[in-house]
Amino acid sequence: MQVHPASLAEPWWKRGVIYNLYPCSYMDGNGDGWGDIAGIRSRLDHLVRLGIDAIWMSPVFVSPMKDFGYDVADHTAIGPQFGTLAEMDALIAEVHDRGMKLMIDFVPNHTSDQHPWFLESRASRDNPRADWYVWHDPAPGGGPPNNWRSLFGGSAWAWCEERGQYWYHAFLAEQPDLNWRNPAVAAAMHDVMRFWLRRGIDGFRIDAMWHLLKDPLFRDNPPNPDFKPGEPAIRELLQIRIADLPETVDVVRGFRRVLDEFPDRATIGELYLDFDRICAYYGAALDGCNLPFNLHLIMDPWKADVVARAIETYEAALPEGAWPNWIFGNPDNPRVASRLGPAQARVAAVFLFTARGTPIVWQGDELGLTNGVVPPERVRDPQEKQEPGLVDHNRDIARTPMPWDGTTHAGFSTVEPWLPLTPDHASVNVAAEERDPRSMLSLHRRLIALRRAHPALAIGDVTVLTGANDVLAYERRHGGERFVVALNFAHAARSATLTEAAGGRIVLTSGLDREGETVGEVVRLAADEAVVIALTE
Ligand code: NOJ
Repeated sequence: MQVHPASLAEPWWKRGVIYNLYPCSYMDGNGDGWGDIAGIRSRLDHLVRLGIDAIWMSPVFVSPMKDFGYDVADHTAIGPQFGTLAEMDALIAEVHDRGMKLMIDFVPNHTSDQHPWFLESRASRDNPRADWYVWHDPAPGGGPPNNWRSLFGGSAWAWCEERGQYWYHAFLAEQPDLNWRNPAVAAAMHDVMRFWLRRGIDGFRIDAMWHLLKDPLFRDNPPNPDFKPGEPAIRELLQIRIADLPETVDVVRGFRRVLDEFPDRATIGELYLDFDRICAYYGAALDGCNLPFNLHLIMDPWKADVVARAIETYEAALPEGAWPNWIFGNPDNPRVASRLGPAQARVAAVFLFTARGTPIVWQGDELGLTNGVVPPERVRDPQEKQEPGLVDHNRDIARTPMPWDGTTHAGFSTVEPWLPLTPDHASVNVAAEERDPRSMLSLHRRLIALRRAHPALAIGDVTVLTGANDVLAYERRHGGERFVVALNFAHAARSATLTEAAGGRIVLTSGLDREGETVGEVVRLAADEAVVIALTE
């Protein structure tokens, strides 16, 4: 698939499409029911045909798998269940041979409690790594030092008998937080980055980026006046002492300095924050994270006026020269096709690939996968196990294996997979969707091909035209090339007066029936329909 030469003048992470690949669920290459590197290597062509520019691969490092790889016990070795370092090197080469980039997860906030650094740190108060994690004495009357909670429920403090102190863990107790105020920690983690950059990795997705620093005075978090019963317990408190401390950006700048030792690398970074705070992580001189995540399409209601406002707020908040990004799904949240319904998920796809900003696709959303159905006895997610039964809380439902074909285990494995397949995998799978020009997969391929062929869609400017009456419309423009995109968020027909679109020609719809149609200044949209209108060729 060709990229237009005008787009090629921009870096890959700006003009391209990034695909979040979840190794446990992509493809099982060794018949144990779990995905692995051999499996990924055997299915790279799916991503080539889709038109992906860069893969962000979730962790494959040595790990006790308490949090499915986000509990790293050795940052520079591959977990045996995923493969070997030689296989990883081969994967890097094969991804590059196919003209794609490979980014991996970098998990700097915490390690596994089995990591040698933590085993040493916990052994005494005066060992060489005693200050590598976040330790604190008990409160004066005994018990945890303060009211900080774990994102996975319960106190964020775990007791260490050997030291007579608590360690802080933003996530599981088995994921102790590193102390980023200690320069030795920064130096060691920077070397981890260099290890992978030297092997040819093109960049990192920085896990839990907004959690890296905690209040040095260890003050309590205040109550959250907006807490609603039924939400995870951590929401009872505002997280102001444990997340998004302003000086966190300095740590991110440190990552960037390491990246800049190598040509053409980039970081994307996890943050669940408002636009003004997201934008701080670019760094005032664009010397921070290349693409701090914008997770608003996951957090906010799917309404035309809300998304119109989001675009405008985001564009206004971006520092000069900073590039946005948009994301509908990830391994931690319910699937977009279940949140919005299948028809609006197609509208969402049109938005994702025509918006100004790098599209980040969650594995399986290109098939329109819905939430998995995971019976209680098959729950794997530690978040769900610690606080069972909350709404949209079990992350397993978004992590079910990729259905490749209609066979018993969907071509994912030769045995029962670690998580159940989606119930409709016999019909909703890659092979079936490849044959169907109306499938979600075909829509994704058409959208990505269109974006790659047109600089206005890949790298152009954006102007919001309307967000009223359930219709979101915007113009994309680069040089003489112009497109108007109109999305109907309603399950009923709508029309919008868009003088900018008059005389244009529809080049893509979320259906298939109107390509080539010329539009006037009143653009008619069927229920749940999205159209891309070319103004000039
Ligand atoms: C965010 C990751 O996406 C999630 O899966 C993980 O549990 C936490 N960070 C902790 O590493």
